[in-house]
Amino acid sequence: MGKYVERFNTAERVLHWFVAASFLTLLLSGLGLYSRLFHGYFDLFGGGAGAIMAHKYAGAVFLISSLMLFLNHAKEMVTFDEDDRKWFRSLGGYLSKNPEHFNSGKFNAGQKGFGIFMGIATLLLGVTGIINWIPASFPRALVQFSLFLHGLLFVAVVMLMVVHVYLTTIGNPGTLEGMLYGNVRRIWARTHHPKWYKEVGGE
Ligand code: HEM
Repeated sequence: MGKYVERFNTAERVLHWFVAASFLTLLLSGLGLYSRLFHGYFDLFGGGAGAIMAHKYAGAVFLISSLMLFLNHAKEMVTFDEDDRKWFRSLGGYLSKNPEHFNSGKFNAGQKGFGIFMGIATLLLGVTGIINWIPASFPRALVQFSLFLHGLLFVAVVMLMVVHVYLTTIGNPGTLEGMLYGNVRRIWARTHHPKWYKEVGGE
């Protein structure tokens, strides 16, 4: 038996990194649109007009790829069992002094919550983004609400993304390997996702 087990196939990894690249472009091009404090970031795109253009194109790529990512994992994401409820009750063990591991499937309950939130947020950011893009076609009150919601979701998504990047890199060593190369170590799979490990043929 080899030391590794497949976690994500090539198509899944390419899709995830498309989402990540378009998200980073949206973040850098959107910061200056969010507040004057960040106008310096416009320079990365050759000025404000360039940043707006990049934001629109990256937004289209993000909308499609992030929704595809959600739909791709939807089956595992939207079903919660007793082990997931246990995870929620102990808040994933993150507030406990002793490291705790749960009988998680392919994704733990926190990842499922994150995935579902990102799916909904992507849809809402997309809809509000289109309204903000062609404001003359919509009532003024709707455009104002749309600008507010777009900004609010942006802040929430950035906060979650900081947590996501931390947990998938330094927070849980060995996790990033799966998204980079496709495979994870068996010991990682057994520790973090024992139910999934059994399903894919681990002991
Ligand atoms: C540099 C940025 C990012 C890094 C390093 C990163 C890393 C990873 C890794 C390693 C996994 C696999 C986790 C596992 O095997 O359990 C993953 C999964 C995932 N990523 Fe990312 N990611 C990044 C950006 C993003 C962005 C921008 C999104 C936006 C929507 C995203 C959405 C997801 C989702 C939905 C999953 C599956 C569920 C989960 O693991 O939470 N990621 N990411």
